[in-house]
Amino acid sequence: NLSYPFYGEHQGGIDTPPQDHLVFTAFDVTATSPTELQLVLAKWSAAMAEMTSGAPVGKVEPGREQAIPGDTGEATDMGPQGLTLTLGFGPSLFDERFGLAPFKPADFAQLPAMAGESLDPALTGGDLCIQACANDPQVAYHAVRNLARMARTMVKTKWTVLGFGRASAGANQTTPRNLMGFKDGTRNVKDVVDLDAHVWVGEEAGQPWMVGGSYLVARKIHMLIETWDEDTIGDQQSIFGRTKGEGAPLSGTREHDVPDFHATVAGAPAIAPDSHIALVAHENNGGTKILRRGYNFTDGLDAVGRLDAGLMFLSFQKNPIQFATLQRKLGSSDRLNEYIRHVGSGVFAVPAGLPAAGSYYGKEFF
Ligand code: HEM
Repeated sequence: NLSYPFYGEHQGGIDTPPQDHLVFTAFDVTATSPTELQLVLAKWSAAMAEMTSGAPVGKVEPGREQAIPGDTGEATDMGPQGLTLTLGFGPSLFDERFGLAPFKPADFAQLPAMAGESLDPALTGGDLCIQACANDPQVAYHAVRNLARMARTMVKTKWTVLGFGRASAGANQTTPRNLMGFKDGTRNVKDVVDLDAHVWVGEEAGQPWMVGGSYLVARKIHMLIETWDEDTIGDQQSIFGRTKGEGAPLSGTREHDVPDFHATVAGAPAIAPDSHIALVAHENNGGTKILRRGYNFTDGLDAVGRLDAGLMFLSFQKNPIQFATLQRKLGSSDRLNEYIRHVGSGVFAVPAGLPAAGSYYGKEFF
């Protein structure tokens, strides 16, 4: 029964090898005073440490008949299950309500509107977010439920996505598949050099609390599954620029062959210039890389009986511009757009990890 340390230089759930399940929830703060926000952050930090170690956040079965249980109980005896809890602050947290404007990193703002998205306001933004990942869905759910519960008079849930299968790979993990049936996460940021160069925020943010942190972009992307399932294998492969079975680039034969965007077959590019990987590869974007950590999701059926499912795309980067640079290209040219819709979106500043018990996220703000 795996457990990850809670205290450290970085928060868990970023360079942690992706666990099997996700509960992502964005919250709005309804409290009006900085002191109440401070209380939420202090309570959450302590509770996150407890739950990461597999402990409950209070008594499941208190001794007095009249007492209300401190912990809801559904993760009792399950152990930590590799749980990580990652807290993020939305740009809206730094508006006039709590006097936090001086702490807002200079380049932190809501993502710009981009081509090809049809965002639902009910699935967009949030003052705070929690990404809970674990190898058991109930442990991840328990964590978010109890965080929401202990702050109920001060924050309210805004939107949530349950991910049931990872769609990304970390170092030494086999590459899983997304709901389009393709391996996802083959060319992901996996090593320490890339993490330092592309994921962890340094002094450039101008905010000490963000040094060692990262920015999380969350996009709920709906897949038009029935349409995709009627497409030919040749077209599907040319849309991604990779084979479906092996996951090899169309310029090579094995999954981890480096794509050659100049290779030709019968005079035509082997990997189409408007394929997904050609558009977003670092070779074609001035070296831009992001750490992808997405999950497959399903919400059952939609109102007309179609499968309601897709990819909860999550990426970490040292500046949200990295995501915007890639998404701008995808939004205007990706052939995948015929089969997907971006419906939810959020960007969150994920502070550095906490050094030890007694510290809490946002302590510098108060
Ligand atoms: C690569 C699927 C959305 C960025 C890939 C690959 C697949 C895939 C199958 C190839 C395997 C790999 O290297 O991981 C999807 C699906 C999406 C989606 C199904 C939407 C439903 C996005 C978005 C972005 C993005 C929104 C960023 C804005 C990347 C990057 C790569 C990649 C950077 C690696 C390209 C390379 O260097 O070869 N994606 N993706 N993807 N995707 Fe996506």
